Amino acid sequence: MRREEQVRVIRALMDHIDRGTNVDEGVIRRVAAADYTSPERAGLEWEAFFKEYPQVIGLSGDLPKAGSFITSNDFGVPLLATRAADGRFRAFANVCRHRGTILEDAPRGERTRFVCPFHAWTYDSTGALIGVPKPEHFGEIDKACLGLVELPAEERHGLLWVHPKPNGQLDAADLLAGLGDEFEAWDFASLVQIGDDTYETPMNWKLAIDTFGETYHFEKLHRDTLAPVFHGNVQLYDTYGRNHRMVLCIRSIDMLRSMPESEWKVTMGAFPVYYLFPNIQINVGQNAVIVVRVYPDGANPDRSVSRVSFYARPDAVAQDPLGVRAVPQRFAEIIRDEDYVAAAASHRGARSGLVEHFLFGRNEPALHHYHRTYRAALGLPPLETASA
Ligand code: FES
Ligand SMILES: [Fe+2]
Repeated sequence: MRREEQVRVIRALMDHIDRGTNVDEGVIRRVAAADYTSPERAGLEWEAFFKEYPQVIGLSGDLPKAGSFITSNDFGVPLLATRAADGRFRAFANVCRHRGTILEDAPRGERTRFVCPFHAWTYDSTGALIGVPKPEHFGEIDKACLGLVELPAEERHGLLWVHPKPNGQLDAADLLAGLGDEFEAWDFASLVQIGDDTYETPMNWKLAIDTFGETYHFEKLHRDTLAPVFHGNVQLYDTYGRNHRMVLCIRSIDMLRSMPESEWKVTMGAFPVYYLFPNIQINVGQNAVIVVRVYPDGANPDRSVSRVSFYARPDAVAQDPLGVRAVPQRFAEIIRDEDYVAAAASHRGARSGLVEHFLFGRNEPALHHYHRTYRAALGLPPLETASA
């Protein structure tokens, strides 16, 4: 975030505190509970947002050096992503060209050669087929035509993007819709990956996204965890195309009132949370950045999985190793054990069939925007306003 914007954000949050106000969508809207449970809807979402849409698979720190790789099976294609000796990030179908076996099983690691576990065809980090055992027995093949199937991949502002279709369109600048400069200023590319976690939850994937979309719940649900640290029900909200930025307010913001503005850093008193359409939350703290990737279980509306990746600023890793190491556990105790428990209960409420609609309040603009944009992307009518 640029300097002027940091100051503007802090001032605007202080103003909300001083006036007792919050962001205001202006209306209450309602969403059908069936939006979270309909198998037909889940099928549409899986096709449109996961099998056919560009995906953020991590940050540059997930591929820290030449020879690093990561794999993923979260959005319908078995994926192998590499950083080769030329420093380039590439993505491939993690599928051997001989008889289709999954080439690499490990979620991450370092390897410059990928040897298929079935018959030992061997590929390098650029996807080239470089070894076929017993070629005189197997028969003649053109190795140059049997490299791994490459997928569109782009590394931009420290984010790793992949399109799940080989001929898919991928333009990260376009997808960021104006957030590029702000992301560049955060220097995400310098972050070090410090751990990851997976939360598997019996709820629709949109309920996981929703739980990041408001701070109205802090004083009740997070009474003993976040509420002592954050002002609940105080935030800023801005949209960037289909994406958005929420800025949460840390209670330490009051310390900034006695400091000259030139010394303010936004993370001293605020906590930005970016949502990237369709399924990414990026939480930006002073020392750590946490990326949550939320996936449905294919076309099953009743289960979702959140892949949570933790990154830290290199100086923080050196200066406060214990503090940095505690981040994943703290995050799990709040998001997994509080937010996702409540959200899974909402799913059961939706499944009951006894409540037709849920409501999004005026102080929950991210929920309005998220549901508005994803519905528009599916060609569905807009959310209805709830009558008073
Ligand atoms: S399936 Fe990979 S070498 Fe045979
Ligand atoms: Fe929460």
